[in-house]
Amino acid sequence: MAAVEKELIKNVKPLVKIDGIKKYFTKKRSFLEKKLVRTDDIIVKAVDDVSLEVYPGETLGLVGESGCGKSTLGRVVLRLHEPTMGKVTFGGDDITRYSKQQMKQFRSNAQIIFQNPYASLNPRKTVRNILSVPLKSQGGDFIKREQEILHLLDRVGLNKRHIDSYPHQFSGGQRQRIGIARALAMQPKFIVADEPVSALDVSVQAQIINLMQELQEEYQLTYLFIAHDLSVINYVSDRVAVMYLGKIVELATTEELFMHPLHPYTKALLSAIPYVDKSKRRERILLEGSVPSPINPPSGCRFHTRCYQKKGKICSEEIPQLKEAAPGHMVSCHLLD
Ligand SMILES: Nc1ncnc2c1ncn2[C@@H]1O[C@H](COP(=O)(O)OP(=O)(O)OP(=O)(O)O)[C@@H](O)[C@H]1O
Ligand code: SF4
Ligand SMILES: [Mg+2]
Repeated sequence: MAAVEKELIKNVKPLVKIDGIKKYFTKKRSFLEKKLVRTDDIIVKAVDDVSLEVYPGETLGLVGESGCGKSTLGRVVLRLHEPTMGKVTFGGDDITRYSKQQMKQFRSNAQIIFQNPYASLNPRKTVRNILSVPLKSQGGDFIKREQEILHLLDRVGLNKRHIDSYPHQFSGGQRQRIGIARALAMQPKFIVADEPVSALDVSVQAQIINLMQELQEEYQLTYLFIAHDLSVINYVSDRVAVMYLGKIVELATTEELFMHPLHPYTKALLSAIPYVDKSKRRERILLEGSVPSPINPPSGCRFHTRCYQKKGKICSEEIPQLKEAAPGHMVSCHLLD
């Protein structure tokens, strides 16, 4: 996105508004477990009270360790999971109240690109078949669809002769191009890209990211870009939300976040980035212990069991609210109270 446009974001209404979203999964205990623990089902608090806004034309990066709830949040935003609580609005409409007919329209407006394109592509279908499905739902006759398939292949950098090939005949990067073409076929406004390059070789990652950025300009796409690789997040995002154990702990423009991280968790994540430029390298902060379970998350600040800058008792007693520490820079930490 151009710098001028980024400035304008402040005066624009969000395309997607995530409002107090909670997503709790219920897991059944086995008969034996029930006898031992004497409680019923296990509740997994995958996303716990998240509010975010995504503005038209921007890329909002969502980063955090494995299991912190990134994919769950991305799926709730597309209503591939029903939220336990909270709402998501798209262009001002509450999608959690959409009828079946409205959901059909929404499914075309909002698409997902997966980490593993191979798993999401039917191995028995040719590229023509794969791309025909979304195009059929857009209407048009066979000839128009055929033209559109060829145009999409060209646009994502695949050769027209690939039209009759099957997914296993492609490389990882090419498969991701098919996944992108399939999403584009619905003419979406908003795309959740869930770790779209993390399964690819580094050189291929750059090609796919560049393609996604070109397409964003061309089709005025808005991305929620999920990744755990901070270098990728730094490269693609206009703003970044940092997630820890189901909650957003910091949100800022990419430049602000990478230059002036405020949350101890963000600082630890950034300290692990390997920079060639020595002046950019930070002293490594090694976090002790592993991420606690979302089944029984720590009280107060969820990060307090691993925090190396703990303020005091308040950290384990009160949940820190996400507050504005500087213009557009939100942080949830008692150190900033
Ligand atoms: N369908 C489900 N049923 C029960 N628990 C689930 C389900 N889906 C996800 N979870 C749990 O919710 C938590 C968040 O999972 P999620 O996949 O959203 O994390 P993530 O941040 O995307 O992780 P990764 O970086 O590994 O993809 C995890 O503890 C996961 O085990
Ligand atoms: S609230 Fe306390 S425990 Fe949590 S990050 Fe801030 S200082 Fe650390
Ligand atoms: Mg995930």
